[in-house]
Amino acid sequence: MDTTTISVSTALPRLDPTAVAARRRVVVTGGAGFLGSHLCEALLRRGDEVVCVDDLSTGRRENLDGFFGDPAFAFVQVDVSEPFVVDGEVDAVAHLASPASPPDYHRLPLETLAVGSRGTENALKLAVAHGARFVLASTSEVYGDPLVHPQTEDYWGNVNSVGPRSVYDEAKRFAEALAAAYARTEAADVGIVRIFNTYGPRMRPEDGRVVSSFVVQALNGDPLTIYGDGSQTRSFCYVDDLVRGLVAMLASAEPGPVNLGNPTERTVRELAELVLTITGSDSSVDHQPLPVDDPTRRRPDIGRADTALGWAPTVDAEEGLRRTVAWFAARPRAVAVAGSALAGPQAGGVPVTPPARQGDAARAS
Ligand SMILES: NC(=O)c1ccc[n+]([C@@H]2O[C@H](COP(=O)([O-])OP(=O)(O)OC[C@H]3O[C@@H](n4cnc5c(N)ncnc54)[C@H](O)[C@@H]3O)[C@@H](O)[C@H]2O)c1
Repeated sequence: MDTTTISVSTALPRLDPTAVAARRRVVVTGGAGFLGSHLCEALLRRGDEVVCVDDLSTGRRENLDGFFGDPAFAFVQVDVSEPFVVDGEVDAVAHLASPASPPDYHRLPLETLAVGSRGTENALKLAVAHGARFVLASTSEVYGDPLVHPQTEDYWGNVNSVGPRSVYDEAKRFAEALAAAYARTEAADVGIVRIFNTYGPRMRPEDGRVVSSFVVQALNGDPLTIYGDGSQTRSFCYVDDLVRGLVAMLASAEPGPVNLGNPTERTVRELAELVLTITGSDSSVDHQPLPVDDPTRRRPDIGRADTALGWAPTVDAEEGLRRTVAWFAARPRAVAVAGSALAGPQAGGVPVTPPARQGDAARAS
């Protein structure tokens, strides 16, 4: 198998000496995606040099439009599931490459498993080769449909290893195992973060995540699609808060896992009502069957993030949603086009759940 060598300019623009001393060169895999592009932006703002590595499978070039003229930014279109190396110094690798929304990973099941396994190992090898810090973007999905609430990092999870969501959940669990093994056997400087639902500008309007779907449907005057009765809960973190946590993890020696998310828990029905209020929309609500293995409750315990990173979210849902709605409202064509993709059973043909599921009796109330 061929190895891609990524050669990018390492020339740094002139900075004052203190800034140069603190400056790092960070490889961001998945940097053209929703979170990755915000991470690239935050790193560039703090004076780092960024190499964004992305195959554009679920990310978009336009997410990077604001950085292309910056000499501290380089973009390389590469599938990280294939071997690759990056020339020059690398101080940190933030590994975010992976399909992340359910319609995306149902559409790309083998690619999702590949990037969680081979892609993670290639990114780990890159970090080890450069003696660089490695941060894995894992997910609250490693807790599956949790029997412990709120979820602490020492909870091992309740995941169906052969269900339709397993391509994502198990890929991330394997990625965590691989990162932990590299830390033990290769002395890799590894940090694992488990990201809970995050929302904000640059989410793809059609990608089927609950916040973007509700906002798009409300702006279009379409019914908001709620799966099940809407009593399932989620905790929604605004992207700026999340990225601050990622930057803190990159700068620390904390191995994790560390939960990053907003601990304010809401039902999906409450979220729908809040979106209707903020958009001023008179859309109705359309109930559809729950997808298979849809988690009933989600709320991070963020005690470890506070202790280890001094991190806590600061943007409340009303403010975060206002900023998100404003971003989508400024893109009426994309929002109108996305409308048809979001109607009916879950976008991407995600299988729906039968009435009783394994684990229902044991599920914590
Ligand atoms: N957004 C959330 O709420 C959330 C929650 C938990 C975990 N995460 C994790 O954070 C990361 C980023 O998620 P996101 O929401 O920005 O998703 P996204 O789909 O917007 O971004 C993922 C990026 O990875 C790229 N990518 C996928 N496979 C690749 C490959 N083989 N090689 C190179 N690039 C590849 C995509 O093109 C895309 O740009 C993912 O690893 C995801 O699992 C996100």
